[in-house]
Amino acid sequence: MKSSNIRLEVMQTVEKSLDELLTKYLKPIDENWQPSDLLPDSKEPGFFEEIEEIQALAKEMNYDLFAVLIGDTITEEALPTYESWLMDIEGIEEDNKNGWSKWVRAWTAEENRHGDLLNKYLYLSGRVNMREMEISTQYLLSDGFDIQTGRDPYRSFIYTSFQELATNISHRRVATLSQKTGNSRLGKICGVIAADEARHANAYINFVNRILEIDPSEILLAFEDMMKKKIVMPAHFLRESGEESGTLFGHFSDAAQRIKVYTTQDYIDILKSLLNDWNIANIVGINDSAEKARDYLMALPKRLQRISERIRIPQKQFEFKWIAVQK
Ligand SMILES: [Fe+2]
Ligand SMILES: [Fe+2]
Repeated sequence: MKSSNIRLEVMQTVEKSLDELLTKYLKPIDENWQPSDLLPDSKEPGFFEEIEEIQALAKEMNYDLFAVLIGDTITEEALPTYESWLMDIEGIEEDNKNGWSKWVRAWTAEENRHGDLLNKYLYLSGRVNMREMEISTQYLLSDGFDIQTGRDPYRSFIYTSFQELATNISHRRVATLSQKTGNSRLGKICGVIAADEARHANAYINFVNRILEIDPSEILLAFEDMMKKKIVMPAHFLRESGEESGTLFGHFSDAAQRIKVYTTQDYIDILKSLLNDWNIANIVGINDSAEKARDYLMALPKRLQRISERIRIPQKQFEFKWIAVQK
């Protein structure tokens, strides 16, 4: 996948607005929430009581929901994979202190709070086999991912737009389900993370919008290509101890489908909302192959809808090594 120099020129053009975009879409560090704001303070006398409450509520959580929460945490903990991929995108260049590398660093700093907060919560929950979770995390980092964007900024920003929306949905649903069962702390934890993901999604959607103004044909072709390959989740290589790479991902995603935290319907809805955000239906002044790409993309939600109606989700619960046997 070779990018032409036009892509570099486009990246340099968008870079001029990055200082403004950074202020718009990321929060000043001193004012941003930190994991400790949402966790019991170990310096306080009420610490152990708060832990007892966390553990009692975690015990009552639906098994699939709890497994999805752990899988989401591991996905967040694989942040080094995402940062090094973003830094390597054509036009970003780590050692060149341009607006793009500044963006990637600041985005990473915000994202790093997600895995940190969830990991600490799970450690306190008393329901996780931490060693198994840590092994899965180390494997996922070591296995990396294969999201088929190459170093292309267009494909990469389409992927991140999609992915930030997907994580927004899944964290938000875990938040809602937790609130419903009276676990307001976990509801708040997943809620603040979901809000970050929504801000990040808006930023990447904005980047793509800017590229669409300058180079519409090429980014449409990139969008078509990404959808033809299908957007894979960043944890698609997930595994448990003693198993092969990727063997756990299906079980994790089946659990998410069963409790409707992230479903095939969400995949279709994200595609629809991106088509809408980028006003793909009304793009004109593009070349013949981009016109075909636009038509393919506009027809895709309906096609996926037909396919999704035939998909059956296994109802049998999978036993995750991550989850400690209840005493
Ligand atoms: Fe995140
Ligand atoms: Fe994110």
